[in-house]
Amino acid sequence: MSGADNPSSAETETGQHPAPAATPESPPVVEFKNVTKTYDSGTIRAFTAIENVNFTVPDRPDHGEMIAILGPSGCGKSTILRLIAGLSPQHPATTGEVLVSGTPILAPGADRGMVFQAYTSFDNRNVFDNVAFGLECCGVPRKERRELAREWIVRVGLDPDSDGDKYPYQLSGGMRQRVAIARSLILHPKIMLMDEPFGALDPTTRTRMQDLLVGLWRDLEATVFFVTHSIEEAVYLGDRIYILSTSPGTILREVEVPAPDRPAREMQREPKFVELVFEIREIIERLEAQNEEKLGG
Ligand SMILES: Nc1ncnc2c1ncn2[C@@H]1O[C@H](COP(=O)(O)OP(=O)(O)OP(=O)(O)O)[C@@H](O)[C@H]1O
Ligand SMILES: [Mg+2]
Repeated sequence: MSGADNPSSAETETGQHPAPAATPESPPVVEFKNVTKTYDSGTIRAFTAIENVNFTVPDRPDHGEMIAILGPSGCGKSTILRLIAGLSPQHPATTGEVLVSGTPILAPGADRGMVFQAYTSFDNRNVFDNVAFGLECCGVPRKERRELAREWIVRVGLDPDSDGDKYPYQLSGGMRQRVAIARSLILHPKIMLMDEPFGALDPTTRTRMQDLLVGLWRDLEATVFFVTHSIEEAVYLGDRIYILSTSPGTILREVEVPAPDRPAREMQREPKFVELVFEIREIIERLEAQNEEKLGG
């Protein structure tokens, strides 16, 4: 497949960036320059999880991109997300540079929200206090916190009156991820990092959560990095898909896909969508075969 014979998608070689270059006034939202992460570097346990990862997400006025990251288990997807978040031990990178808005990452910041692979609500806080957590850290007064939290609880499809006082153990997996999304988005991050947030959900809830995310993302204009094992989810949610190699992970392909413009259930049935999923599966299979050949040889 290539961009030339398929108008709905555009494929580029590693390290090349199909999006328009950012102007000098607007540095890229995120940039990885030859980033390598070796855990336990300098010890006998040294393990290189990602190697020479390069990508640029340009700052587009009024449009945050949704970037889906696809790759086999253990290829370094969470490592990449946590490097952007500035979380240790992934941060700092062993070599190379991770830049956010043109500045090297030093630590986590409110400009970057994260929804983790595992459900990570605070067990001793109810829904209201989980959602308001970041505001509390910023010193927002209680009344205002409560009002904003109520607004966000509604926006993620929960009921503040019946769900607001519940604790995480009283919530389903889908509800807990709604709380996690609200807790991040209430701070209006410029970048949202989502690590397989819907991986543990049943297909119907998952589709609903995908639609919810698309709606919220449009309003916020945030750049979203979205790790998933589902090609369908990547094609539906993504503006762009990064396909990673097996460990040590590196970006093998960047594929541009059309942005979601209809509900997931509708779009995912269409022949054009099914064909695109099939094409991406073929790219992945081809890349994996090439990789195995390289390793075997
Ligand atoms: N703190 C750590 N110390 C040592 N090795 C680590 C650490 N964290 C991750 N790794 C290793 O780095 C590699 C990449 O891990 P990572 O969690 O980024 O993979 P992933 O692509 O997110 O996998 P999955 O799809 O299973 O979540 C794996 O081999 C993992 O064992
Ligand atoms: Mg992971």
